Amino acid sequence: MSAFKEKYGPVALVTGASSGIGVGFAEELASRGLDLVLAARRVDRMEELQARLEAAHGITVRVIESDLSRAEAPAELAAAVADHDVGLVISNAGFGAKGWFEAIDPAFMADLLMVNCNAPMQLAHAFVPRLKARGKGGLVLTSSVEGLMGGPFSTAYAASKALVISLGEGLWGELAGTGVDVLTLCPGATESEAAAKQGFDPSKMQNVMKAREVARLTLDNITNGPTFISSDHYKATFDMLLSMPRQQAIMAMAQGMKPEG
Ligand SMILES: NC(=O)c1ccc[n+]([C@@H]2O[C@H](COP(=O)([O-])OP(=O)(O)OC[C@H]3O[C@@H](n4cnc5c(N)ncnc54)[C@H](OP(=O)(O)O)[C@@H]3O)[C@@H](O)[C@H]2O)c1
Repeated sequence: MSAFKEKYGPVALVTGASSGIGVGFAEELASRGLDLVLAARRVDRMEELQARLEAAHGITVRVIESDLSRAEAPAELAAAVADHDVGLVISNAGFGAKGWFEAIDPAFMADLLMVNCNAPMQLAHAFVPRLKARGKGGLVLTSSVEGLMGGPFSTAYAASKALVISLGEGLWGELAGTGVDVLTLCPGATESEAAAKQGFDPSKMQNVMKAREVARLTLDNITNGPTFISSDHYKATFDMLLSMPRQQAIMAMAQGMKPEG
């Protein structure tokens, strides 16, 4: 058995596993021999992935329909996998909203908070005791480089992802020495459905990474918490922004993100 599977297996739970980075995580974990529990709303997508990964890697994949905009969903998900020895939890489901803050539908914003913030916090709460009791394992929280500072014209999303970074940093400190690694992933632009869902043409995006590559780098850096920026380009950009006076940095972001017209 590989050292990775020995420490983080036998079973990994991945939320947001029906597209994008979550599929990248599922593929990468399957290639490392871990059994999987995949969670999202689109069951058909996950069943296709299940069939592909089981055939290619001889692993067992379970699919769970879960709508994380529901307050009870994280606890229900944890209960549904009570009989699995989950060694790795990847809380990855999330979505954004670009444009003027006041143009965002309040109901959409409430869902965004549930999926981007409530879900990782409640999943961590449910799984930390289980992981600690095992004395080994990992928790990966997908944030964003946008969580590193306030993001005009992505204000609600950036704020939600700042919570994830803070959550992950706190847990990293609390779990130090327990054998459970905590890593908050801050991706830059990554191939997924996110751009199209937010009204962008993905073909016009630059410095875009493949989801599988982001997943591979994240898992290779799981012991290097508290945070990990998967893109060298975005790491350099945000290192520069964060070294600037805050007013200048935020105005630079505002200039780059302001909607046309
Ligand atoms: N792609 C990027 O450039 C980028 C950059 C920084 C951070 N991120 C973060 O990376 C994570 C993955 O996003 P992605 O880029 O891979 O986008 P994506 O392709 O749109 O995938 C988002 C995933 O989240 C799931 N999800 C959304 N709403 C949900 C809900 N109510 N309940 C349960 N699952 C839900 C979706 O599944 P269903 O729709 O089937 O439920 C899907 O599997 C997100 O947290 C995102 O904020 C992405």
